[in-house]
Amino acid sequence: ATIHDQKLHRGAGGELHQFAEHGMPVLTTAQGGPVSDDQNTLRLGARGPALIDDFHFREKIFHFDHERIPERVVHARGYGAHGYFETYESLAAYTRADLFQRPGEKTPAFVRFSTVAGSKGSFDLARDVRGFAVKLYTQQGNWDLVGNNIPVFFIQDAIKFPDIIHSVKPEPDRQFPQAQSAHDNFWDFISLTPESMHMIMWVMSDRAIPRSFRFMEGFGVHTFRFVNAADESTFVKFHWKPKLGLQSVAWNEAVKINGADPDFHRRDLWQSIQSGNFPEWELCVQLFDQDFADTFDFDILDPTKIIPEEILPVKPIGRLVLDRMPENFFAETEQVAFMTQNVPPGIDFSNDPLLQGRNFSYLDTQLKRLGGPNFTHLPINAPKCPFHNFQQDGHMAMRNPVGRVNYQPNSWNQGPRESPVQGYRHLPAEEQGAKVRLRPESFADHYSQARQFFISQTPPEQRHIAAALIFELSKVETPVIRERMVSHLMNIDETLASKVGHALGFKSMPKPADAAMPTRQDLEPSPALSIIER
Ligand code: HEM
Repeated sequence: ATIHDQKLHRGAGGELHQFAEHGMPVLTTAQGGPVSDDQNTLRLGARGPALIDDFHFREKIFHFDHERIPERVVHARGYGAHGYFETYESLAAYTRADLFQRPGEKTPAFVRFSTVAGSKGSFDLARDVRGFAVKLYTQQGNWDLVGNNIPVFFIQDAIKFPDIIHSVKPEPDRQFPQAQSAHDNFWDFISLTPESMHMIMWVMSDRAIPRSFRFMEGFGVHTFRFVNAADESTFVKFHWKPKLGLQSVAWNEAVKINGADPDFHRRDLWQSIQSGNFPEWELCVQLFDQDFADTFDFDILDPTKIIPEEILPVKPIGRLVLDRMPENFFAETEQVAFMTQNVPPGIDFSNDPLLQGRNFSYLDTQLKRLGGPNFTHLPINAPKCPFHNFQQDGHMAMRNPVGRVNYQPNSWNQGPRESPVQGYRHLPAEEQGAKVRLRPESFADHYSQARQFFISQTPPEQRHIAAALIFELSKVETPVIRERMVSHLMNIDETLASKVGHALGFKSMPKPADAAMPTRQDLEPSPALSIIER
């Protein structure tokens, strides 16, 4: 590239047209005014006071002062890459989603991997869930599959999300620990929330310390629906399978790596893509209908459950390749806004109460984080298909209606207009019931799948789970929280429970936990109420 086509800034108006005596583009203010001296403020005499006339200094400092935006309330630390998704075969029988109609069709993609609990500057190898958020820029609008590297979640209802996140983030008085789950508040919440036991087994396993993003699985977690052109629906669970296979580090390696290179996962993704070694995942689905769902002894709306692949094998339907790093981290990775409610025609939601709550939360949080309603005007968030609407104005509006018309219907015969044929139609599912706050009985089994996960692990992996529990719980200072946790483990695997209890110095093992632990105010006070001091 010559100086003449050098692009120093992205975006409208950034063209560089002035060339100075040194052959480089002339430095300008944001208003385009050429700058003569960027080393010294304007002063009254060389040793005198600074002058308010110095608009260049004021603009430069003003802009610097406002560089930060709020970090994500969760998943603050992340790293993204561009790529594409390629469809293997037509899925028209199941879904009318355009991206799944034609074999070989490529859809542009942006993916952001993240940790959940740590702040933006935290280290990569924390024991934590990893976010696996995929934005697919389809011809029918953006589809965001905002998943994790673990197929289940801690809680069954989105109303508990602020509580679980508050408990895992730094404690409000001391602001530590920063990015680890090893503390009383987190384990207190978990021990009072039996529905989290399945997830806890995954989080204590090697899955929570992946070797790199390239060796991780991803999951949509919830049951979604495919809907075909005849408005017939099929339940679907989404899985990303890494071509490189699944690999983790050991805990003592994770601790050392965090000290030596807190950017280990970032560096790995950057280096592999920059050297042409493009990571790849297959998108796989589990497809089933209501009759099949009725044969399970768990509820497909419960996000703390998986459908075991032995019962329902996964079917590969396409591949995701990441082949380009962002040109600017802030513009792309930081400003990207994933939202579970971004679905194209042919993909619909189930009544999973966690998913339903997420569908509210993401749009709401983007408004605050990205500073107004026009974040879809940012290139990373804008659709890559034609789009038209009469939305207008608001802070930083880059697009506004052109001409007289900004409503419809109108008598000027000016579009756009809605299309009952091509537009998004929600599945007309019939629902009925009383308005209640009630957890269904079908969500009540919190231990069976936790046990299945534990016994599915190899002996070394089981030892890692035990070691992780011992390490974590040994950092918990309040004895009753440790006991409560071990009483849950008694319901999962007695050998595991006694190994952990023994290592924690228990003289005798606690009784297995009562699965129906009170979670409502109107029930008996929970035992936690007696724990005030530690
Ligand atoms: C962010 C996944 C549950 C609220 C994220 C991100 C991922 C994710 C991957 C990071 C997106 C990015 O890279 O920018 C999940 C999964 C969940 C779950 C798989 C459960 C299955 C929830 C729930 C809520 C929630 C229940 C709230 C009710 C948020 C918020 C953000 C976020 C507010 C920050 C978004 C932003 O600022 O851009 N989640 N999440 N999540 N999640 Fe979730």
